[in-house]
Amino acid sequence: MPSHPTFQERYEQEITPWETHRVDRALVQFIKQSKLAPCTVLDAGCGTGNNGIWLAKQGFDVTGWDFVIKAIVEAKTKAEQAGVTCLFEQTDLFNLPPNQKLFDFIFDRGLFHCCKSSNQLGNFVKIIAKLLHPNGLWLSLIGNADEIRSGDGPPQLTASQVTRLTEPLFYIESLTASFFDSDQQPPPKNWICQMRKR
Ligand SMILES: C[S@@+](CC[C@H](N)C(=O)[O-])C[C@H]1O[C@@H](n2cnc3c(N)ncnc32)[C@H](O)[C@@H]1O
Repeated sequence: MPSHPTFQERYEQEITPWETHRVDRALVQFIKQSKLAPCTVLDAGCGTGNNGIWLAKQGFDVTGWDFVIKAIVEAKTKAEQAGVTCLFEQTDLFNLPPNQKLFDFIFDRGLFHCCKSSNQLGNFVKIIAKLLHPNGLWLSLIGNADEIRSGDGPPQLTASQVTRLTEPLFYIESLTASFFDSDQQPPPKNWICQMRKR
């Protein structure tokens, strides 16, 4: 059975189908519609920084964490080229040192759904909740299991998995079926899930 490449291998071999080099339109819409004022934000699993850099341009105080150093190096270069300040750090969300700083807002595009078991998914929800201030917001873009596909694509969760996993620690403010802002055709279906810490 062929084994799946690790994220590190994917970045080294440039097999990164999620990469667009632009902000995801769902994040832009969310910021515009919610009128969320600039605040501290974590881009969890930030990749090469596209979303964090856009947020920094809007005045947000951005931290971006990814455990692949190649992605972080590229994110730093992109931020420098864009003339914005972001704190991009090589960090494993599952191996955080104690006493982390807290955030007002956490965004993840395609990290939550990477968790491989219900145990890991549940732990991820706990980690995100722990990193947020009371009343903090989490916006997650998640592969949608309603999409039947034959080839490769992002991992997928059902709506009931998303709600069952997140509701113990978060109020779900909206859960919308949509599509990743992607260069792939057709773009993979996703869930846009907006949550507030209980
Ligand atoms: C599907 S990619 C999305 C990247 C980026 N959010 C984007 O939209 O371009 C998922 C990202 O999560 C990162 N990642 C996966 N597990 C991680 C972990 N435990 N800690 C930090 N980053 C992780 C991967 O290296 C990868 O960059």
